[in-house]
Amino acid sequence: MVGVEKTMQHVGKVLQNIGICENVYEILIECPKIAEESKPGQFLHIKVNKGIDPLLRRPISISRINRDEGSISLIYQVIGKGTKEMTGFRQGDDIDIIGPLGNGFSIFTGSKCAVVGGGIGIAPLLELASCISDCDAYLGFKCSTFKLGEYKAACRELHIATEDGSVGSMGYVTDLIKNINRYDIIYTCGPKPMMKKVKELCEKSSVKCFVSLEERMGCGVGACLVCACRIKEGDTWHYKKVCADGPVFEAGEVDFDD
Ligand SMILES: Cc1cc2nc3c(=O)[nH]c(=O)nc-3n(C[C@H](O)[C@H](O)[C@H](O)COP(=O)(O)OP(=O)(O)OC[C@H]3O[C@@H](n4cnc5c(N)ncnc54)[C@H](O)[C@@H]3O)c2cc1C
Ligand code: FES
Repeated sequence: MVGVEKTMQHVGKVLQNIGICENVYEILIECPKIAEESKPGQFLHIKVNKGIDPLLRRPISISRINRDEGSISLIYQVIGKGTKEMTGFRQGDDIDIIGPLGNGFSIFTGSKCAVVGGGIGIAPLLELASCISDCDAYLGFKCSTFKLGEYKAACRELHIATEDGSVGSMGYVTDLIKNINRYDIIYTCGPKPMMKKVKELCEKSSVKCFVSLEERMGCGVGACLVCACRIKEGDTWHYKKVCADGPVFEAGEVDFDD
């Protein structure tokens, strides 16, 4: 684990850290090594403060990779102590990062793809959508939206649902996906009930589906088992580590009722 940390531990420079909607921030970090090596769907394990509390790093997905400028951007929702600490990062601060971690999304050229994101799950899908030509996006929010402009620029079709109906259709994002069989592959990230529904829709229409999971994490590099989740391989279920074996899995492997 120490060896892994040594090769993957970096110091990034905060270029910007701004609120983009209620309780949601975007942090832009200069770190050429990470920008060069990252792929969509991977995550960073971030030391969120200068002291020791909270002790554990926090996992945040890479949202955009700007290789030319040597920077990456992350979008994070303020949930508890760790993410609250992150809002205190200022331009010019050094930030201690381990990454890029995890396996990321597989991209299949020539396939008809769509991303389905809910809430903060929209963040990790943005770089992916911009890497796939003719990708469609289905995005669901509770009320306030974010990153619609970038999704519009990256995608062929953009479908939006909000629970209060303030933008796009009123309801859940899964209500928007009518003809899922026009896609070869769906990539999804968001609340578990949403991903479960997307998985079921894909299964009914024999569409390949990849999900990006979030579990509480300890080490982030496969050493502590905090992030274990139930995964099916063939006919047998066993546990895999979301940090090292994921966070992206084929939907059919994942037990959302675990
Ligand atoms: C691979 C991965 C990628 C992620 N990407 C993003 C991202 O791009 N943007 C983003 O905003 N968040 C992301 N998260 C979630 C983020 O890591 C947590 O919200 C964060 O660690 C919470 O820390 P905290 O100290 O603010 O809250 P805490 O005080 O640690 O927790 C507050 C509450 O949230 C719950 N909680 C904390 N972490 C998680 C978790 N991982 N899953 C479910 N419940 C949790 C706790 O049980 C507790 O009830 C990701 C998580 C993983 C595993
Ligand atoms: S967080 Fe330690 S094994 Fe995944």
